[in-house]
Amino acid sequence: MGGLAASVVLIGVLAGVRLISAQDRLVEPQSGSVFSPAHATFRDALAHFLGWRREPVQPIPFPHRTHFEEAFLECTYCHDGAARGPVARIPSVVVCMDCHFDVATDREPIQLLTSFYESGQEPPWERVYGWLPEAHVRFNHAPHVRREIECTVCHGDVTQMIVAEPAVDHTMSFCVGCHEQSQASIDCVTCHY
Ligand code: HEC
Ligand code: HEC
Ligand code: HEC
Ligand code: HEC
Ligand code: HEC
Repeated sequence: MGGLAASVVLIGVLAGVRLISAQDRLVEPQSGSVFSPAHATFRDALAHFLGWRREPVQPIPFPHRTHFEEAFLECTYCHDGAARGPVARIPSVVVCMDCHFDVATDREPIQLLTSFYESGQEPPWERVYGWLPEAHVRFNHAPHVRREIECTVCHGDVTQMIVAEPAVDHTMSFCVGCHEQSQASIDCVTCHY
């Protein structure tokens, strides 16, 4: 009996400890410059430290250059969130089919695209940019686009890319450098949560 009571107390203490640390984590985002750069696994930490990134593998080789040179599309025709909010957004396959019901229907990538559309699925596009969640960085396109900062400043010349590549390294000094020059905020909480 004594042993059982002791274990109940012990479990209570452990649960209490866990509760406290969970609360610490909950209040962290409000506490301003205090955030944890911890990584989920050692491999993540090592990969991050060494700057490794797996090459994205796209389900369909979407040629940006062709759509600029032959379809004359503006970036925001497809990435219509860029001027409006935090995310630029990857267009739905429905947008592609506006043209590809008729255009290049004899090509294999377009047949694959059409089969995604017909089965009601989005092609599983892989991310090219983006930080590890552990970096706790936030970004918002709209204020930058409003200030007429070109897409090329942060993404390179995508009009010349076949498949989108990570052309610009979104390091902290890249961001802070321009913020200092353009008198935008360099408070930690502007970019971190
Ligand atoms: C016809 C639609 C279309 C147009 C126009 C277009 N894109 Fe894209 N974009 C896509 C699709 C689809 C993807 C996802 C496939 C990929 O990453 O290769 C993508 C991916 C990207 C990515 C990688 C995002 C990430 O992190 O995964 C960037 C950056 C990008 N586009 C920038 C641009 C810029 C800049 C322009 C204008 C020069 C542009 N795009 C024009 C459809 C378009
Ligand atoms: C405004 C019209 C338009 C839209 C919207 C559009 N495309 Fe295209 N696409 C074209 C044109 C024009 C070509 C060049 C066709 C040619 O080579 O004859 C092309 C070519 C392509 C090719 C190369 C085909 C090949 O192998 O030669 C792929 C792949 C492609 N588009 C995928 C997409 C995807 C994915 C989307 C949606 C994110 C999309 N397109 C949206 C007009 C469009
Ligand atoms: C000031 C730098 C900056 C500018 C200017 C900028 N981007 Fe981005 N973009 C980023 C960053 C940083 C990310 C990654 C954000 C993340 O992972 O949360 C990103 C991600 C993206 C993505 C993929 C994820 C998403 O947001 O949907 C696309 C597509 C994209 N940008 C397109 C564009 C286009 C098109 C323009 C021009 C209209 C543009 N960007 C201008 C910095 C920029
Ligand atoms: C070429 C210059 C430039 C670069 C590069 C740049 N920024 Fe900015 N950023 C600005 C300017 C200017 C503003 C202020 C916009 C305003 O308030 O009108 C801003 C504002 C912001 C805001 C505040 C948005 C809001 O909600 O008010 C965030 C967050 C931000 N930037 C994050 C980043 C991050 C993260 C990066 C790096 C990936 C970055 N910026 C790169 C110029 C830049
Ligand atoms: C204008 C945007 C911006 C501001 C302001 C900013 N940072 Fe960052 N910070 C970033 C970006 C983007 C990264 C991610 C770099 C990467 O992953 O390569 C980063 C990464 C970091 C990291 C490394 C975390 C990790 O492991 O990836 C630390 C620590 C950090 N910032 C601390 C700060 C502190 C402290 C401040 C305030 C003095 C601050 N930052 C202000 C954009 C910013």
